[in-house]
Amino acid sequence: MRRRLIPMNVVIAALLFILLSLDLDKMKIPAPVMQSGKKVYERACSGCHQPGGEGISGLYPSLIDNETILGSQNRLIKKIVFNVTKPEEIHAGKLHSPAYPLGNQEIADVLTYVRNCFGNKAGPVTVREVKRVKGENK
Ligand code: HEC
Repeated sequence: MRRRLIPMNVVIAALLFILLSLDLDKMKIPAPVMQSGKKVYERACSGCHQPGGEGISGLYPSLIDNETILGSQNRLIKKIVFNVTKPEEIHAGKLHSPAYPLGNQEIADVLTYVRNCFGNKAGPVTVREVKRVKGENK
């Protein structure tokens, strides 16, 4: 019998390794997005929710391990863009932080940032999704 050049278990280990690292890469947010998101956060959010995201008890909710932050992109974007979390409130048309109207890219970056700092971990929020929620994807 001919010996295989590379043993099968080495091949399997290598494939597993590649698969695992691909998956990790998907979750890793590019540094420029995090930097941009941090800038927007400091300007538009940290005054209330605090620089470390911990909020102020009874006034501003903590954004750490927060259901709205970590939940669906759709719901989180609606909170920031329309200040609502329920579909029937969508026409209220109030910005969540009206003193700081944000561009679509800024919204995507800041939400991606808060989903991935202060110990939070969740997938990125995309400009595409922000536009879709606003009804700008025509
Ligand atoms: C002027 C103060 C203020 C600013 C600025 C502000 N927030 Fe808030 N935020 C609040 C208050 C008060 C609440 C709780 C009431 C509510 O849900 O609207 C809240 C709630 C939230 C919630 C929902 C939390 C939950 O438990 O459901 C999220 C998410 C959020 N803010 C994110 C942000 C982000 C991101 C920014 C910056 C783009 C921001 N906020 C800017 C005051 C602020």
